[in-house]
Amino acid sequence: MKFFSTLSTLSLVGSFAAAAAAVNTTDPMYQLSTDTDYHFEVLRVLAMAPFGGSDIGETLVAAKQLVPGNFTSYYNAFYDLATRVQAEADAIDRARYPVSARYAYFRAASYYRSADFYLHGNWSDPRINSLWAAQRAAFDTGLSLLPIPGVRLAVPTDDGFTVEAIWYSSGFAGPRPTVIMGTGYDGCQEELYHGWVLGALERGYNVLTYEGPGQATVRREQNLGFVPNWEAVISPLVDVLMGTYAVKTNVSNSTVTRLTPADIDLAQYVQPDAIGLLGISFGGCLAPRAAAVEHRLVAVMAVDGILTPGQTILDEMPSTLINLFDAGNQTYFDALIEEALNSTLLTTGERWGIQQGEWAFNTHSAFDWLHQLQDYNMTTLAANISTPTFVADAENDIFFPGQGRLLADLLRPGLATYHFFSGASGAGAHCSLGAQLLENEVVFGWFDEVVANATSSA
Ligand SMILES: *[C@@H]1O[C@H](CO)[C@@H](O)[C@H](O)[C@H]1NC(C)=O
Ligand SMILES: *[C@@H]1O[C@H](CO)[C@@H](O)[C@H](O)[C@H]1NC(C)=O
Ligand SMILES: *[C@@H]1O[C@H](CO)[C@@H](O)[C@H](O)[C@H]1NC(C)=O
Ligand SMILES: *[C@@H]1O[C@H](CO)[C@@H](O)[C@H](O)[C@H]1NC(C)=O
Ligand SMILES: *[C@@H]1O[C@H](CO)[C@@H](O)[C@H](O)[C@H]1NC(C)=O
Ligand SMILES: *[C@@H]1O[C@H](CO)[C@@H](O)[C@H](O)[C@H]1NC(C)=O
Ligand SMILES: *[C@@H]1O[C@H](CO)[C@@H](O)[C@H](O)[C@H]1NC(C)=O
Ligand SMILES: *[C@@H]1O[C@H](CO)[C@@H](O)[C@H](O)[C@H]1NC(C)=O
Ligand SMILES: *[C@@H]1O[C@H](CO)[C@@H](O)[C@H](O)[C@H]1NC(C)=O
Ligand SMILES: *[C@@H]1O[C@H](CO)[C@@H](O)[C@H](O)[C@H]1NC(C)=O
Repeated sequence: MKFFSTLSTLSLVGSFAAAAAAVNTTDPMYQLSTDTDYHFEVLRVLAMAPFGGSDIGETLVAAKQLVPGNFTSYYNAFYDLATRVQAEADAIDRARYPVSARYAYFRAASYYRSADFYLHGNWSDPRINSLWAAQRAAFDTGLSLLPIPGVRLAVPTDDGFTVEAIWYSSGFAGPRPTVIMGTGYDGCQEELYHGWVLGALERGYNVLTYEGPGQATVRREQNLGFVPNWEAVISPLVDVLMGTYAVKTNVSNSTVTRLTPADIDLAQYVQPDAIGLLGISFGGCLAPRAAAVEHRLVAVMAVDGILTPGQTILDEMPSTLINLFDAGNQTYFDALIEEALNSTLLTTGERWGIQQGEWAFNTHSAFDWLHQLQDYNMTTLAANISTPTFVADAENDIFFPGQGRLLADLLRPGLATYHFFSGASGAGAHCSLGAQLLENEVVFGWFDEVVANATSSA
């Protein structure tokens, strides 16, 4: 194409790759692939094993079939595993062996999600929805087999969207501390269950997980990309938990039956002065943003904290692209990104990051995606937070290294608790994936202390 005559693909992609995270040879963790992004995604599947969301042997068998950079191989390996485990689950007599069936369905659900993970570059791919329907059906069967089943809830807001949520009761008597948990750029509620929800339930907290615009089901069913004013997602949930939600009935479409706040009174289970908000990954930017406006929370947890996600991603791009972005040259910027995506030279992390970004922000323009991302900027808003906030960094984070420290430093004096998860502890990966038990110990230990301090001084 004549358009690119001044810039060869190689020069563009060469500088792209140079700026991207290569395998960190000083990372003390054993690497599961020579492809850094595959290492992380496989670790992410293994990370659910302590809480029954995967099992180690079968995941490592799938991992051996992965060809670095080949997204088809990733789909094939995990789709094969998902259907095999689903067949195993279906063959179990659920009435007689509910525990066996539950574990098998939960694992099948996780593997369907992994099969979907690298497919978002082609929005017409019907597997984006079919795999999601399969994962949700399997997960919901698992949920229904719990001693206290989780309950799907649809929460319509005044802002034109419905928040999707799942309520998990602690099972302990009396109003209890409650944690609202949200994921980030590419996670989902079901994944949260196996990393954080069970850890909170075991400690006696209720949990409300949710997905807002840009996230798994809201993106698929309501066709909505991320919005920066995340309080529009969180405040209705706080209302539901406190019993102050004004019931709306225009629930968005879903193939899944859910209750609405009109059907269930959650406030009776919730200690209103002990509601926390946990944000994972990009949620480490969204949760603080919501807390800058929503002041009824007792505690905020950003794992890991993110101050300026848009700036972080832009800084990793070659100067040619940065200059075009700063000049507002959308046409040429997008054409260069498309050329790079057409080439075979992007790293897995770069290709996936751009494709997932466009999908989650609901735009076919990479320029627009990156432009939207600049609105997620906690630099001045950090000082609006009036809630004790836990902010983590992970030493070997391949996405947003060092952002937690920057966010913590801008919080009001006395409100920030900063925690650095070291690589040597095994918790150095993004969001400390693979170290759920240590992470739960640290994060929920802090939450428990904040709740005790807040309620004893009240
Ligand atoms: C690589 O790992 C070392 C040791 O954990 C860490 O200190 C360093 O920040 C990492 N480098 C990058 C670029 O992630
Ligand atoms: C990608 O891997 C699949 C196997 O999962 C293989 O059939 C296909 O040929 C590979 N594609 C390339 C370009 O190597
Ligand atoms: C996207 O997926 C659709 C449906 O499977 C397919 O027809 C189309 O060829 C795909 N496009 C690309 C560029 O692969
Ligand atoms: C629900 O109704 C409210 C008030 O009429 C409206 O503002 C909002 O956009 C509607 N939400 C949905 C998801 O249709
Ligand atoms: C639900 O789907 C129907 C039929 O496709 C459509 O008419 C209606 O507007 C949708 N409602 C919402 C809230 O999205
Ligand atoms: C974030 O906000 C700060 C303070 O307003 C500003 O200086 C900075 O340029 C912003 N960053 C981005 C990426 O927009
Ligand atoms: C965008 O950049 C290209 C390449 O430098 C240039 O030819 C074009 O004139 C620029 N467009 C605008 C609107 O500045
Ligand atoms: C990228 O590939 C698509 C599909 O093959 C093609 O239509 C498009 O022109 C290519 N774009 C660039 C910039 O090479
Ligand atoms: C943040 O605080 C400032 C100063 O009190 C206020 O003007 C601004 O509206 C607040 N921002 C938000 C989003 O609430
Ligand atoms: C709880 O209060 C004690 C005593 O004031 C203080 O030392 C501690 O840092 C507080 N804990 C948290 C997590 O804020």
